[in-house]
Amino acid sequence: MGISVLIVGSGAREHALTWKALQSPLTDAVYCAPGNAATEAIAINSDIEATDVEGIARFVRERDVHLTVIGPEAAVDAGVADRLLNDGRLVFGPSKAAGRIESSKAFAKSLMKRAGVPTPDYRVFQDPANAKDFVRSEGRAFVVKADGLAKGKGTLVPRDAAETLECIDTLMLRRTVGAAADQIVLEEKVEGREVSLMALVDGERVLPLEPACDYKRALDGDKGPNTGGMGGYSPVSFFDTTDIDRAVEAALQPVIDALREDGCPYRGCLYAGLMVGPSGIQVLEYNARFGDPETQIVLPRLDSDLIALLEAAARGELSGRLSWSPSASVGVVLASRGYPGSYARDYPIDGLGRVEQGVLVFHAGTASDPSGYVTAGGRVLTVVATGQTMADARERAYRNAERIRFEGVSYRKDLALRELEVSVTG
Ligand code: GLY
Repeated sequence: MGISVLIVGSGAREHALTWKALQSPLTDAVYCAPGNAATEAIAINSDIEATDVEGIARFVRERDVHLTVIGPEAAVDAGVADRLLNDGRLVFGPSKAAGRIESSKAFAKSLMKRAGVPTPDYRVFQDPANAKDFVRSEGRAFVVKADGLAKGKGTLVPRDAAETLECIDTLMLRRTVGAAADQIVLEEKVEGREVSLMALVDGERVLPLEPACDYKRALDGDKGPNTGGMGGYSPVSFFDTTDIDRAVEAALQPVIDALREDGCPYRGCLYAGLMVGPSGIQVLEYNARFGDPETQIVLPRLDSDLIALLEAAARGELSGRLSWSPSASVGVVLASRGYPGSYARDYPIDGLGRVEQGVLVFHAGTASDPSGYVTAGGRVLTVVATGQTMADARERAYRNAERIRFEGVSYRKDLALRELEVSVTG
């Protein structure tokens, strides 16, 4: 008899986790809480919100769920893992205390400093007047980060000192992300190329996944506002296996060791947002969860059994290495016009049936109605294609993205282009 798995969350990341969990020969039932319109078709959705700690605990008890996998940061911060661990259940996802590595930017920065992890210099402020005095005295731009969870809207990247002052007002006085910006971090701006490195962690051991690049700005050429992620690609030519090993040693293992020594061991996926620049690898942020859209892009390349790995991590028994397909993968996020600002919804989605076999379409902001799927969110779908080369994967991803239509569909056209330029110019 196989095991049952509960995936907590409702986005394209959770659709990808569900899809991968269903491929595991270990799994005989996959539940989602709450899941989305597409997981409904492949797994068993339950009407329980990701942050409903009591509801999830009851569901796990009643269905005798073997392993719970936590998707979103809000569920980590709500204490879903704490509650399930208290009930003697297996859970892949960190405790609320370990999750502060994402839910408090000031905590993460001080942990990094203490653990000797390279990260840009920073200052923490509770008073906007003090923060602005500091910027005026320095006379240059700083990255402005809300301390708390802000659904991807808490990090602002101004170009100069005047814009930095404006960003402080936006977060602390206009309170665009509410109490998340009662405290802010001002961080030195650093140059380089960003890469996302996710790793499975069992409290002690760190097993890195293949890296990916995520495109955070809404428009081509890295223009427009920051978003939750508009797509990306894997593997990453400028971040090879030596870089991965170096990053684990310098940027991931030290914080995992420090958290364990502090009495809050980290079990789950640790995501490091890295900047690779002239001064080496620096950590810009950690997330206490799988990345979105990185998960949709990376999991199709993973040959190992994901559920065996997550179960081993939850038990504190990770070992071995991961097995990867040598393919490349490109994921294109199809968004609603207006995202990340306001957007309309309920537009019919056409063309899903015209997508080629082997191309994956992970749902986020969709709903089903009697005539099919309709739009129901800002980021609607992630279209993911693999190929022998990055050029193949990219061409296939865009060819299929074009087949999907809904009113106001918008997506970046330049994803992974820089990788092709690298291979052309050597
Ligand atoms: N791709 C960025 C994130 O998951 O937060």
